[in-house]
Amino acid sequence: MRAALIGCGEMSRAWLAAAAELDEIEIVGLADLDEGRARSRAVEFGLGDVVIANDIETLLERSRPDMLFDVVVPAARHGVVLAALAAGCHVLSEKPLADTLVHARELVHATRSASRLHAVIQNRRYLPGIRRLHRLIESGALGKVTGLHCDFFKAPHFGGFREQMEHVLLLDMAIHSFDAARYLAGVTPDSVYCHETNPDGSWFAAGAAANAIFTLPTGGVLTYRGSWCANGMPTSWNGQWRVVGDRGTAIWDGEDAVTAECLADPAAQDGLFSVTQPIEVPPLHSDDGIDGHLGLLRDFARSVREGREPETVSHHNLGSLAMVFGAIESAETGRSVTIAIPEEPEVP
Ligand SMILES: NC(=O)c1ccc[n+]([C@@H]2O[C@H](COP(=O)([O-])OP(=O)(O)OC[C@H]3O[C@@H](n4cnc5c(N)ncnc54)[C@H](O)[C@@H]3O)[C@@H](O)[C@H]2O)c1
Repeated sequence: MRAALIGCGEMSRAWLAAAAELDEIEIVGLADLDEGRARSRAVEFGLGDVVIANDIETLLERSRPDMLFDVVVPAARHGVVLAALAAGCHVLSEKPLADTLVHARELVHATRSASRLHAVIQNRRYLPGIRRLHRLIESGALGKVTGLHCDFFKAPHFGGFREQMEHVLLLDMAIHSFDAARYLAGVTPDSVYCHETNPDGSWFAAGAAANAIFTLPTGGVLTYRGSWCANGMPTSWNGQWRVVGDRGTAIWDGEDAVTAECLADPAAQDGLFSVTQPIEVPPLHSDDGIDGHLGLLRDFARSVREGREPETVSHHNLGSLAMVFGAIESAETGRSVTIAIPEEPEVP
């Protein structure tokens, strides 16, 4: 399949490295507002004879791709995806799906109207640790899940746009944890209360930390504690997770370690406590798509070929984006907010 990529900034390297591993994908064009960046990426990845362009229209017209890889900044995503769908391409976009819920809904609508696939890179789902934790939850060994808890603490100095933007942690980063939480919970939360701060000493202009409590339609809760200006003792980029069920608890360090304990014999007591014992966490299964961007690109290409929807298809991803915008609304109003997933658009 012929693929063109637009947005040759930092993230494009992960995409082009992944595409290079996949025989079924041929990169036929690269574009960036700064054409020099597109040219450098072509050299870096040995793509000597691909089309080089500085806008989406020229890229599509000259390279005639089957699919577009969209790695532009969020504000440019809406226009780029609409143009590609109109040209008959399937589209795989970087996260977030859109810069507003209205734009997200429009993209879902345009995708259905064009009978094409549009999916989002939610690469945190494509990690061995989260796949195994998901299998453990699905196995029922923890019982009914009553709480999912995610901690995210880092102190990166990015420079650039992130240090100036509003709601930086919620908009730019928390979508990964929120989407992972939806995957683990198997449901989309129905409400959120979020307290956002910019802690003393922060080098970000606004919103570098957030604490959010989501309620789940199953009766459980999801809590998120995050900061982008927490020096020392960092968590994984994937967060650090605790999942509590009515029979046991699992912990995922965000990397490879998933450990769990559950009740040994519900009647057995040791002083104040019920007796628990470590349990096996299921191994990876051959159906588990893994390898981050590579896993996602592979899954997307297969979905196009087989005419099925990939796991991070855009109409499903609306729920993760709605969590982000719900948390932002709560932070701005100081109130608990119902998470509104934009209605499924009608297909004409
Ligand atoms: N999945 C992840 O783990 C992850 C990590 C970091 C960033 N991202 C996402 O990747 C995307 C890109 O981030 P980045 O860090 O590479 O940013 P970046 O600023 O390094 O690169 C973005 C590039 O897009 C180009 N661009 C912007 N508007 C364009 C347009 N209309 N037409 C053509 N080119 C255009 C810019 O010139 C720039 O080169 C963002 O959506 C970001 O949220 C994802």
